[in-house]
Amino acid sequence: PASTTEHRPGDLAVGGVPLAEVADRFGTPVYVLDEDEVRERCRTYRDAFPDAEVLYAAKAFLCRAMVHWTAEEGLGLDVCSAGELELAVTTGFPPERIVLHGNAKSPRDLETALRLGVGRIVIDSPSEIARLAAAVGPGGHQKVMVRVVPGISAGGHEKIRTGTDDQKFGLSIADGYAQHAIARILDQPQLELTGLHCHLGSQITSVKPYLAAVRRLVGLMARLHEQHGLVLPELDLGGGHGVAYRPGEAALDLTALARRVRAELTQACATAGLPVPRLIIEPGRAVVGPAGIAVYRVLAVKKTGEHTFVAVDGGMSDNPRPALYGVRYAPRLVGRASAAPTAPVTVVGRHCEAGDVLAADAGLPADVRPGDLLAVPVAGAYHLSMASGYNLVGRPPVTAVRAGHVRLLVRRESLEDIRRRDVGL
Ligand code: LLP
Repeated sequence: PASTTEHRPGDLAVGGVPLAEVADRFGTPVYVLDEDEVRERCRTYRDAFPDAEVLYAAKAFLCRAMVHWTAEEGLGLDVCSAGELELAVTTGFPPERIVLHGNAKSPRDLETALRLGVGRIVIDSPSEIARLAAAVGPGGHQKVMVRVVPGISAGGHEKIRTGTDDQKFGLSIADGYAQHAIARILDQPQLELTGLHCHLGSQITSVKPYLAAVRRLVGLMARLHEQHGLVLPELDLGGGHGVAYRPGEAALDLTALARRVRAELTQACATAGLPVPRLIIEPGRAVVGPAGIAVYRVLAVKKTGEHTFVAVDGGMSDNPRPALYGVRYAPRLVGRASAAPTAPVTVVGRHCEAGDVLAADAGLPADVRPGDLLAVPVAGAYHLSMASGYNLVGRPPVTAVRAGHVRLLVRRESLEDIRRRDVGL
């Protein structure tokens, strides 16, 4: 990724700080975020989509510093729980620039959203309409969008595809559920429907599904205009913008996305005789993924008949993505100038499962040995946010580097933290 530079030959540095120094100061495993790169990625979105609203999808990674950076760079936020929402608002994020998602919003989610004055709530199921209307109360007012399913298959892995009809999110257009729900929303005076939302899936590397989504959603907008005289001012295309996890892999071309979505939207609206709605997008991974690196210490090296296993001090508890989606990473050796040729090894974690594999065919110097540091690039999104408590190893800390300095953003989860929650005997 752009954030990694060779500090000295064979050494790796981020933001001018050698990763070996971060590991010495904060221990391993540790996440390292390049603050400048996160900010730069936010600005790339603002520049590519100057008249759209760009919401950073907090599920990819959230901490108070990230909330600040997002706010300062002019992005809004997409949250999907009272937890994400509260962290953002208590850090000073303007609630009106936050959108709440969720296919199963709890009473606490809705109560928090209404209490904090969240900008929009995205309705995902018919039962939510009456529940939300009741929570808002007669005489109250809440802006909502409705999540529709356009019937488009896209995304990196079956488990993260959400644009097709037979999955848990949203309301199908093809089956008429979306239209039915919208009619019910329009019956609720305290709910103001501002637009349609869809999210096709994640790790999408082609522009085409987004263009198809524009056509599908504008088609629905045209029917709603005919039936209800409705003109919706917003259209939210969700996130899903793919990044390269290994050198040579494709990423979604944001400039092309912006240009072609804009053209498609203008064209489709002209055909339908509708004004062009304000576009909203919700990137998560592409904002923060490539700006983060995970650093591990090698604890053991072992050969079997066919493989060399390099075992590190983290694994599926801090990165479940290889096990969940079969994602392949390209770890690199840190801090030891080695001219030894690379050989394929299997980088495994420390957890009690044979499936705890971080990288199945990593090219590492043949003399990799215990004590070495391994850096796993593109670890900024869906690593810490999906970290678990498995084997009570404690979740790793998050550090940020900028202008040659490193600072701690989120400290390591200690045994004391774990013990404190354990209140029974
Ligand atoms: N908007 C909505 C409604 C979403 O559900 C998501 C992601 C996003 C935006 C942001 O998508 P992104 O731009 O980050 O692709 N854990 C998986 C990814 C799951 C994404 C869930 N929703 C992974 O590690 O690949």
